[in-house]
Amino acid sequence: MRRSPVIAAVLAAFAAAAPGAVAQTDPAVTTPPPAAPAPRVETPKQGKLYEQGPTNRYLLAGTWLFRLDQAEVGLKEGFQKQTATTGWSVTTVPSAWNATDESVESMSGTVGWYRKDFRLPSRSKRFSYVIRFESVNYRSRVWLNGKPVGTNRGAYLPFEIRLPSGLLKRSGTNRLVIRVDNRRYPTDFPPSGLSATGTPTGGWWNYGGILREVYLRRIDRIDFSTVQVRPVLRCTTCAADVQYRVVLRNYGTSAVKVRLTSRFGSRKVDLGTKSIGAKRFAAFTRTIRVKKPRLWSPTRPYLYAAPVRARIGKKTVAGYDLETGVRSIRVNGAGRLLLNGKPLNFRGMGVHEDHRTLGFAIDDAARRLMVQETQESGATLLRAHYPLHPRIHELADQKGLLIWSEIPVYAVKTQYLKQKLVRELAARELESNILTNQNHPSVIVWSVGNELSARPGAVQGYYLARAARAAKRLDPTRPVGYAVAGYPAAGCQREYDPLDVIGVNEYFGWYPGPNGQIADRTLLPEYLDSVRACYPKKAIVISEFGAEANRSGPVEEKGTFEFQSDFVNYHLGVYATKPWLSGAVYWALKEFRVRPNWDGGNPRPNSPIHEKGLITFDGVRKPAFFEVQRMYRGTDQFGSGPAR
Ligand code: GCU
Repeated sequence: MRRSPVIAAVLAAFAAAAPGAVAQTDPAVTTPPPAAPAPRVETPKQGKLYEQGPTNRYLLAGTWLFRLDQAEVGLKEGFQKQTATTGWSVTTVPSAWNATDESVESMSGTVGWYRKDFRLPSRSKRFSYVIRFESVNYRSRVWLNGKPVGTNRGAYLPFEIRLPSGLLKRSGTNRLVIRVDNRRYPTDFPPSGLSATGTPTGGWWNYGGILREVYLRRIDRIDFSTVQVRPVLRCTTCAADVQYRVVLRNYGTSAVKVRLTSRFGSRKVDLGTKSIGAKRFAAFTRTIRVKKPRLWSPTRPYLYAAPVRARIGKKTVAGYDLETGVRSIRVNGAGRLLLNGKPLNFRGMGVHEDHRTLGFAIDDAARRLMVQETQESGATLLRAHYPLHPRIHELADQKGLLIWSEIPVYAVKTQYLKQKLVRELAARELESNILTNQNHPSVIVWSVGNELSARPGAVQGYYLARAARAAKRLDPTRPVGYAVAGYPAAGCQREYDPLDVIGVNEYFGWYPGPNGQIADRTLLPEYLDSVRACYPKKAIVISEFGAEANRSGPVEEKGTFEFQSDFVNYHLGVYATKPWLSGAVYWALKEFRVRPNWDGGNPRPNSPIHEKGLITFDGVRKPAFFEVQRMYRGTDQFGSGPAR
């Protein structure tokens, strides 16, 4: 069989990382280097950085050890001495090992090792343990006490690994080792690539490491495999049907009878009793009707608590906390997004979870600040190129921010999207995102990607159709969207038929675009009308617009604050004349690291910083922030008229 070079490369990378091979070539897996600091063995404490999810989560925080892979050390001078002489160094998790390293090597990726020595919070044999990683970039291989226990690929979505009983030390020290490889391939999400001059391309910095927190989960026989509490609202004055679907898993060695209960606000919900065999799953479903629900909206983000509890006899053995909101989001026959029956015309902010010194391993303060700054700008929606941290979803639910939820199927080239494996992996990302984030009322769109080829053709058409179908099957209550690169020459595309929402990334008057087709901003109104004419029944939103700015200067000079202010004024002014538009998102709220040699269309760039942000990387608001704020606040974003 002839394999494509990329698939072969992917397979080779897997082979190279096979546990046996690694154990042989890297003694660190089982034996730390002699100069390793004496590991402080900790017993993790109950704790969590976000509320929604299973109870009995223990944060694997405190002291971790880190080292770059020995074979890779030569690549990075800065780390070379440190790793060669001391082996492991002490770190904390979350961590991006290259958080402040702006070199080409840092963007290209390498291999790093993390280690955590810990004791179990309880010795009882009744408990099983699972490790939950919220986001590791990019490929992970995990060992417990020297034995491989699992692998994963892809960041921004959680993965869990069960710690086999036979390997766990109930009373001694357990050693968890994770090999993280952030070298990426053109088939990854986001893909790697090289520019004509050989520097890595990509839409944001390739931070390597355990980027979000890690939990040890203690399981008393019963665990939650799926929890879905889905309010369905058919009209704004209708009763809501709340559909519960909970799948439990019995980790125990004997069958148990489990009673499952919940609440919806103050109302009790009995999900029934089932006998679950050892190692088996059982699904509990029930729909309740809420006669006069209080609706969730950005102006009144009302939440219902819906905690789920599993009991064996009188004992509560497992719990899952969640809050949700009742609201409807759909696209009507006239191609308009309706929130609770009223036409939406949101104004939003594109964001990255980036930070000057922490990289993508941001903390809670940074997440709160992101939400606060977004709301202060007058925006009511967040968009990122990947699923956001669960805490951001919770803050959005609580504070009334909408979320355009996207998977990092970002500018994947058609030749790679053509590979079945790549499409399957993309489908898995989508499924995982929906299962992970479906209980958040803030999420209004499942976006299946960003800027694949502007001329979709059969391959992309196939991907979009499959992805849209999969999203609808998993969640029929939310529209499916996709963000396209906005070029007039692209014309109308049948391949977008399966989508409900089309996001247009438009940079008229900023980038020239192929053959200079978007150089003249005055062509924007006409272009938007042509998009509308192509897709009269789909909701259309501007998913990106923006201009770089890093200095004061003439208004006609690209890269000045004056140019940026004028740019946002013009673009928002044009959107205001398109009554059919369902929303617009500025790209981006804040500056972030993008890649070496980035210019972003700015004649005086400050690589690797992407400077279209309205707020500098260090938190200073540019003049355009206030322009946007004035115009966003002056926009009727939620249709003041009667519900339709
Ligand atoms: C693209 C892309 C963004 C990028 C932006 C830009 O359309 O989706 O991730 O940052 O353009 O060029 O600034």
